[in-house]
Amino acid sequence: MAINSRLIPSDFTPIPSQSPDRTALVEATSTANAGLDAIGFAVAADRPVPAELGIGAEALAQAGFTGAAGQTLVLPRSDGPVFVAFGVGAADQQDQAGLRDAAASFARATHRFARIGIDLGDSFALDPALVGQLVTEGVLLARYRFTELQPTNSVVRLEALDIVASEKNLEAVRRGVETGHVTSRATALARDLANNPPGHLTATRMGQAAEEVGPRHGLAVEVFDKEQLIALGCGGLLGVNAGSAEEPRMIKVTYSPEKPTAHIGLVGKGIMYDAGGISLKPSDAMHLLMKMDMAGAAAILGAMTALQDLGCTAKVTAWLMCTDNMPSGTAMGLGDVLTIRGGRTVEIKNTDAEGRLVMADALVLATEDGVDAIVDVATLTGSALQTLGTRVAAVFGNNQALVDQAIAASVTSDEPVWQLPLEHRYRPQLNSALADMSNMGGPFNVAITAALFLNEFVGDTPWAHLDIAGTMQTDADDSWRSAGATGFATRLLIDLLLNYKPVSA
Ligand code: BES
Ligand code: ZN
Ligand code: ZN
Repeated sequence: MAINSRLIPSDFTPIPSQSPDRTALVEATSTANAGLDAIGFAVAADRPVPAELGIGAEALAQAGFTGAAGQTLVLPRSDGPVFVAFGVGAADQQDQAGLRDAAASFARATHRFARIGIDLGDSFALDPALVGQLVTEGVLLARYRFTELQPTNSVVRLEALDIVASEKNLEAVRRGVETGHVTSRATALARDLANNPPGHLTATRMGQAAEEVGPRHGLAVEVFDKEQLIALGCGGLLGVNAGSAEEPRMIKVTYSPEKPTAHIGLVGKGIMYDAGGISLKPSDAMHLLMKMDMAGAAAILGAMTALQDLGCTAKVTAWLMCTDNMPSGTAMGLGDVLTIRGGRTVEIKNTDAEGRLVMADALVLATEDGVDAIVDVATLTGSALQTLGTRVAAVFGNNQALVDQAIAASVTSDEPVWQLPLEHRYRPQLNSALADMSNMGGPFNVAITAALFLNEFVGDTPWAHLDIAGTMQTDADDSWRSAGATGFATRLLIDLLLNYKPVSA
């Protein structure tokens, strides 16, 4: 048995969401198809209750249902599909995130059913295409479950989702539903990858997954093995990999539309498992989550699978830096010095600050490629989690126009980010007496010194950095976020790449 498949059967596929049984039939129609198990009727707090529900506003109010966003009320019927009233708030106060969450609430209220529909009725003031996208995302993201390793689980898979719209709005709604289907599928891929255990999804397997998925979505995938990484001088990735029984992989993914309007580089942290290395992490619950230390790379790969379908006009090149970070007799030690691609040297003061090392090589490669802007995504620091919690990620950057575009995309996608300062007064904390710099700053402001470290490798290229350590997972179901890996940053990136406006260096 090959060493990289030590825990897995040889036919294991690490990317189940892409297989046909994981893809529900999603459709916009003008009348609900026969055979649905449940139909949700959107009810706006300030508009008439849809007549099809067969129950008036007063009776609904008696049951405590007012149409407030997020409310659901299941109405039993003697035959035919179950009817569910779900509140979408007052029409003139609807916002995008609230509508996505309302659809997620409906999806959770009907989790027992495989074939569900939503009747949009006349309950929305937002653009119909947007409504179609938001309700589709809300349902598909909330119904996501990672059950591949639980053959006996009884979770009901979503088989069909019908979005029922008026003839007048049908074309627009259909476009939106297609968009929502694509963004949700991309997020499911990112979640699947991050939810997979480290013994199943090794760096080698991650490369195979990219090679399998990429071509289906118009992506060129090039996987670099250890030999090739040595030839490229990727000393950061190789240094972190030194303690591992598994080979590293750098996965280069390219989306090249005809006559591209810009060229954006993406860099993803792909630590398949972060044990801390010789600076071993303690055995606390956090350790369990370190299989998700590749969530940045996963979000990027997920996002890239949406670009062709959604007609992105920018060229996008991604570098996913994959290895685990293990302690062993061959691991790098404290005081070791690594040479990053391009020649700069880094003294290792803590082997658990490994993400910045693997990313440094990729940032240099991206600048060498002459990209117009770089966006990186990384579960980089516990400090981001401590500072902003599990709902908000940190964003940093050397170019405010680019950071602003990331913030705008975070609002649209409801993947919120908050900007922290790239405070150069802290830069001396990264000084080293032995090498060009150290991989660790002081005991405080760790997210900031980590960002300052990355900043050293981007040169003048406009760059934004997302630290998603806090938002990569959720313990429990919550709005569109299903328990486990959230796929955070997948939809943010899709939005950012589709709407990218050139920025000047
Ligand atoms: N992968 C961790 C960061 C992390 C922590 C992600 C919690 C998700 C949840 C990262 O490699 C790490 O260990 N960072 C250290 C850096 C320190 C040693 C300078 C940290 O943040 O403590
Ligand atoms: Zn670490
Ligand atoms: Zn890490």
